[in-house]
Parts: sequence; C-alpha cells; structure tokens
Amino acid sequence: MELQKAIKKRKSVRKFKTKKPDWRDIIECIDSARYAPMAGNLFTPRFILIDDKSTIQKLAEAAQQDFIAEAKYVVIVCSSKEKTINSFGERAEIYVRQQTGAAIQNFLLSLEEKGLATCWIGHFVEEQVKRVAKIPDNVQVEAFFPIGYAYSDAKGRKKVMIDDVLYFHNYKNKRMKIPRMPYA
Ligand SMILES: Cc1cc2nc3c(=O)[nH]c(=O)nc-3n(C[C@H](O)[C@H](O)[C@H](O)COP(=O)(O)O)c2cc1C
Repeated sequence: MELQKAIKKRKSVRKFKTKKPDWRDIIECIDSARYAPMAGNLFTPRFILIDDKSTIQKLAEAAQQDFIAEAKYVVIVCSSKEKTINSFGERAEIYVRQQTGAAIQNFLLSLEEKGLATCWIGHFVEEQVKRVAKIPDNVQVEAFFPIGYAYSDAKGRKKVMIDDVLYFHNYKNKRMKIPRMPYA
C-alpha cells in the first residue's frame, strides 16, 4: 500500500469481526517498529503479543473498555528505559515517550497495510496491566492495541485543518512570507 494512502486510511476501530488474523502478520507489523528513530540508537520499546481470551478479558477490565474483549489479539507496548536514562539524564523521559510514539506509528501503519484494525488504548490502570502480563516494575506500560479485522468500513474521525495547526517563522504568524523578487 502506498504510504500516503495508509496514513490517510488508518482509523481507530472498536468493533471486530470474529475471523482471527494470522499472528505472523502481527509480528511483521511489530517488526516495522524496529526501524523507528531512537535517541542514541537505544531501542526502548518492548512488545507483548497476547491471544489468550481470558488475558484479553482482564486487559479490557484494566482499561474499563468492553470492546477490547472482542479482539483476537492484544499487543502491549512497554518501555525499558534504563539505558536511555543513563545516557541522557533528565531529557530521557521525553525521548522515551517520543520514540515510543514513532515506533507505534510504524506499527499502526503496517497493520493498516495488512488490512488489520486496531485502536490505541491509553486509558488503563497500569498496575493491573502489569500484573496480567507479568511486566516488571522497571518497565513502563505505554499503551496497548486490540487487533482484529474491522467489523465495518466506518468513516474515520474528522481531522484537524492544516490551517489551524501550522505557523510560519514564529508561533504568532499564520502566513508564509512570499519572497521578494530582486528587481521587481
Ligand atoms: C495516546 C492515545 C490514547 C488513546 N486512548 C484511547 C483509549 O483508551 N480508548 C479509545 O477508545 N481510544 C483511545 N485513543 C484513540 C483516539 O480516541 C483516536 O485516535 C482519536 O479519536 C482519533 O481517531 P482516529 O484514530 O480514528 O483517527 C487514544 C489515542 C491516543 C493517541
């Protein structure tokens, strides 16, 4: 799939078909996360692929979002950030968050390319997720992703207009200066 098409077609899906995807396709999507930029080339994200129904049910409870329980798989994304903290000190927390987002976007676009659907889950009780997935104390849960085939091809959310979020030269200027022609 062409990159721009994947970017523009991707949307959050909260209702899944009963058909189970091939887990190897999901691994390929996780693999694409390895190519994201990382501060100091230290790779912080970690991924847990879950297909056990009762574990997925517990994750739905940890997020208090029932639709998650209908997914055939969940991928938990967490961060092992010690090396980055040792290298970058107080900026490290920001770096870890940013690069996790970059890795997740690679993952999401790859799912889109494979015709798989998901929804970014950021609202959950971290302690509950850690307990369910046996995640150690020093590893931070970033988000998780219920995965399946979209139940219907519903339209995506309305997107912000470029005009509302773009500035030129400084935060107070909304217009691109037109360069003067030298002899005009
Ligand atoms: C950091 C983050 C946390 C989110 N947490 C949740 C969540 O807990 N539950 C949910 O249903 N959607 C969640 N979403 C999905 C957003 O609601 C969704 O991306 C947004 O409405 C735009 O829709 P789209 O993904 O279809 O473009 C989250 C998205 C992000 C980036």
